[in-house]
Amino acid sequence: MGKFTAIVLAAGKGSRMQSDIPKQFMELAGKPVVYYSLHAFEASPVDDIILVTGREDVAYCENEIVKKYHFNKVRTVVEGGSQRYWSVKNGLAAAKGAEYVLIHDGARPCIDQKLIGRCLQELQNGYCCTVGMPVKDTIKVVDGAHFGIDTPPRDTLWQIQTPQCFPYEKIVSAYEKMEQSGDSDITDDTMIIERYLGVRTKVILGDYCNLKITTPEDLNLAEIFLRKMNENC
Ligand code: CTP
Ligand code: MG
Repeated sequence: MGKFTAIVLAAGKGSRMQSDIPKQFMELAGKPVVYYSLHAFEASPVDDIILVTGREDVAYCENEIVKKYHFNKVRTVVEGGSQRYWSVKNGLAAAKGAEYVLIHDGARPCIDQKLIGRCLQELQNGYCCTVGMPVKDTIKVVDGAHFGIDTPPRDTLWQIQTPQCFPYEKIVSAYEKMEQSGDSDITDDTMIIERYLGVRTKVILGDYCNLKITTPEDLNLAEIFLRKMNENC
């Protein structure tokens, strides 16, 4: 493994998309959604890529995505798990030997080179980091009966995106501790490193275009953003 390894996650079921095929393989401007983030890492200074997908989609990814589009940096396609964090864990096992990992949702196609560059820079500055953006809406904490119980000051709130980036040994040891704890409320990797290692993560500027495709209307938005990114190239 090289110095920087990207782990691209494409093993989810996409239940909120309510589509027959997993959202990471739905067609977006003529190509599967996951093509775009693989293409971005292929064109970046990242050394290698691990693609994580469902057991039934490994052969499809190898033949119809990695070989077809000549993604030479993809070292291997590995099987994911039932939860996102198990998919990450399998990706980390396959990335053994890397110095740093950038963990990215394959459902975020609109990632650009500047954003990847900012991640690499912070890793080299010695930080664990994630990209994110200041929230635009007021955010409320609500109780079980849907009454607001708190309105945190908006200028302290950021929505978190991916890539999330770590020195390899740190994130692996945080995952080992997470496994021993038996916790199951994990939604991202910065939570794991903060909770189990007590290491702070730096939240750096992402991009409002770096959306996660989650529900059907997101595909239309992503297509507009991709077109804009191509025009700017
Ligand atoms: N993911 C994964 N393995 C899982 C669950 C999620 O690799 N067991 C990946 C997804 O493929 C996606 C990213 O993690 O690229 C972010 O997850 P999310 O948007 O929640 O995707 P899904 O879990 O597929 O969607 P949903 O929650 O609507 O079922
Ligand atoms: Mg999910």
